[in-house]
Amino acid sequence: MSRLVAGLAMLAASSGAIAQVAAPPVAAVPDSAIAHPQLWPQGRSQGLVNPATEARITALLAQMSLAEKIGQMIQADISAIQPDDLRRYPLGSILAGGSSPPLGAPDRSPAGPWIATARAFDAVARESRPGHVAIPLLIGIDAVHGNNNIVGATLFPHNIGLGATRDPGLIERIGRATAVETAAAGINWAFGPTLAVPQNDRWGRTFEGYSEDPAVVASYAGAMVKGLQGAPGKGTIQQGQVAASVKHFLGDGGTTDGIDQGDTAVDEGTLIRVHNAGYPAAIAAGTMTVMASFNSWNGVKMHGNRSLLTDVLKQRMGFQGLVVGDWNGHAQIPGCTATDCPATFNAGLDMAMAPDSWRGLFDSTLAAAQRGQIPLARIDDAVRRILRIKFGLGLFDPNRPMEADTRLIGAPEHRAIAREAVRKSMVLLKNQGVLPIRPSARVLVTGAGADSIAQQSGGWTLSWQGDGNSNADFPGATSIYQGIKAALTAGGGAAELSTDGSFASRPDVAIVVFGEKPYAEMRGDIRTLEFEAGEKEALALLQRLKRQGIPTVSVFLSGRPLWVNPELNQSDAFVAAWLPGSEGAGIADVLIGGKTDFVGTLPYSWPKTAGQFRLNAGQPGYDPLFPLGYGLSYARPGHVAALPEVAGLDASLANTSIFFARGKSPAPFRLLFDPSVAAYAVDSATTQEGANRLEWSGAGQVRIAGPVANFERESNADLNLQVVLRLDQTAGPVQLRFAGGAIDLAGMLGTGAAWQTLRIPLKCFVARGARLDSVTEPVAIAGTKGLKLTIADLRLNADPAGARCP
Ligand code: BGC
Ligand code: BGC
Repeated sequence: MSRLVAGLAMLAASSGAIAQVAAPPVAAVPDSAIAHPQLWPQGRSQGLVNPATEARITALLAQMSLAEKIGQMIQADISAIQPDDLRRYPLGSILAGGSSPPLGAPDRSPAGPWIATARAFDAVARESRPGHVAIPLLIGIDAVHGNNNIVGATLFPHNIGLGATRDPGLIERIGRATAVETAAAGINWAFGPTLAVPQNDRWGRTFEGYSEDPAVVASYAGAMVKGLQGAPGKGTIQQGQVAASVKHFLGDGGTTDGIDQGDTAVDEGTLIRVHNAGYPAAIAAGTMTVMASFNSWNGVKMHGNRSLLTDVLKQRMGFQGLVVGDWNGHAQIPGCTATDCPATFNAGLDMAMAPDSWRGLFDSTLAAAQRGQIPLARIDDAVRRILRIKFGLGLFDPNRPMEADTRLIGAPEHRAIAREAVRKSMVLLKNQGVLPIRPSARVLVTGAGADSIAQQSGGWTLSWQGDGNSNADFPGATSIYQGIKAALTAGGGAAELSTDGSFASRPDVAIVVFGEKPYAEMRGDIRTLEFEAGEKEALALLQRLKRQGIPTVSVFLSGRPLWVNPELNQSDAFVAAWLPGSEGAGIADVLIGGKTDFVGTLPYSWPKTAGQFRLNAGQPGYDPLFPLGYGLSYARPGHVAALPEVAGLDASLANTSIFFARGKSPAPFRLLFDPSVAAYAVDSATTQEGANRLEWSGAGQVRIAGPVANFERESNADLNLQVVLRLDQTAGPVQLRFAGGAIDLAGMLGTGAAWQTLRIPLKCFVARGARLDSVTEPVAIAGTKGLKLTIADLRLNADPAGARCP
């Protein structure tokens, strides 16, 4: 025993000695290397490099210690770091994640606490201390549809709606207003625009992309960058402008099955023509930063892809700014963890987004640099690029104010631009004469989205998912109902609001506002394009109004085109309004009076069936319900005939989350019992015969089987397996299995015959061997003789409360 310990100590000492003799640089992970460099567009950043600044950077680099250089290359999230920490860890940047609150204040805060937070961190970075070179901070936020984390800000339509306007001039004005409202909160870096070209509408980030059409994305990329940063080459960016971050490089919109953070398995030509479409214009417009993507290209994670980050982006396309990582994106490179990843820097990442992992990543990166595993030239290049952006933003200029004029947050002139964008983004899919509505009409305004600024704003709104918001969280904003009411009141008409379609006085027409509830990133990934599969609440509402002879106008809020044939059939007019944001009055501008016509046209093809996931103009056999570019107007009417109401896809495909409820396994799942397990229908806490009592007479399992399914997206989205059960009689271990990974519940189960709800993250099952890619028996419960338990409900859910691995 003591000999063994000594042996280990010797080994440690000798490996330490070896390490000091300079280890060879860690090779970047094997590239999914490009084969045709000449096919990539050649380019050069405009306005980022000038000799005077480069000389100042050289001088600074000469003063900085290695630790200070490594610090510049790491970005922490404000939810996981305090200003004081910057004394020990001289990081180059902080960010505010979608749900990260300003210091000492709630996440939903007006500008004041955000400014205080920015100032508190920046002050420490700028301190002059012995051995410390004072360098201001880059402070980033997801200002992706306006400065959407700050209470009171103008919220512009999400990018999908902007895509419908086909108006690059408008995009530039939106960029300018967004920059002013971002800078006004003390923030100098916006993580946008997204230049994804989404090719599969199941993807939860479809709404963040302007269009499925690369040409539309290309026409907007430079405009948005100029809006945020100002025209390139005009000297430093001062008050009221911020750095842009075009994202996510490269191929985020092309993943197989539309799985967020998945693999984009396309040839190099497609990668260039489709997914890279926006980048050349953004680089030419001088974008200061590019964000690396979570996805892989042909199996290699972009955060580790030297071929694309360095050879293509920096060399061939001439990008001279900084490449920032995505939220612990480096951790997904094989061989890396969130706190240790020299390979990402060697591949060409200049700054890692290490929200909660910054401390460990700083230590390990510094150690790797000391061992020579990251060449000093690479480190100097990364820091040069970072400092270039800091100089370019004017951060070293003592006269540059920390924040722009706060009164400009939610300013009337910005709201006017947003309202214009709402008007121009609306796409009229159908109108059998009911629109425009007379200003003197009596109008019923109904549907779940009618008076919900939260729903009309979607994800990335005050919180990451856009959940938990109410109208009171949006001072100065207008719901769709409020806009309609104002227009009708001015015109001598009247608006009545009701959620369920009931009314006090019979209306001339009903405006029904419904659609998707807010979501972001992987939480928005879906299986089929059927709207409200199995629920059809909006449809029932439309049918009720129809039966009463009331003409209906549907205003559909969504982050993507969805299969809505039944709803279209029940509507006399149907408007795709996307996710319009804070200025709901823009809807009434077009629907009421008829003075303003529709100009929006589809930025994505609209599906004929719920199974047309990859429906993109130009593909062989392209057969949409409404093609890319479709859009009716008062000037260009058109007739839409009755549509078939067959989804074209087994509706049960939509159920991938409810394995057992109300006493049975809903389709497509079914229960299978080993002979040693007997089942009896019994009452649950809420439902008669809503539960199954299971009794084991020997070792055996209850299994829930279904069609082959892939549960990677559910695990990726941090979902839990939630089980509601009661332990009636213990007997040895009780195993809960998901996709082959087994967890012993014994320690989690209280006795005493009370109902219990357990939540176990799918990731726990993965850690215990679950294989999620082709699952035919998602869930099983295994026990031994004498075990008795009653199960009431088994499903996937997203509620983190109490979720843990046993
Ligand atoms: C997203 C990025 C975002 C970042 C910071 C990531 O999860 O993919 O788009 O900029 O988080 O919030
Ligand atoms: C953050 C987001 C981030 C996401 C990544 C969230 O907790 O608030 O900003 O994009 O995590 O998964």
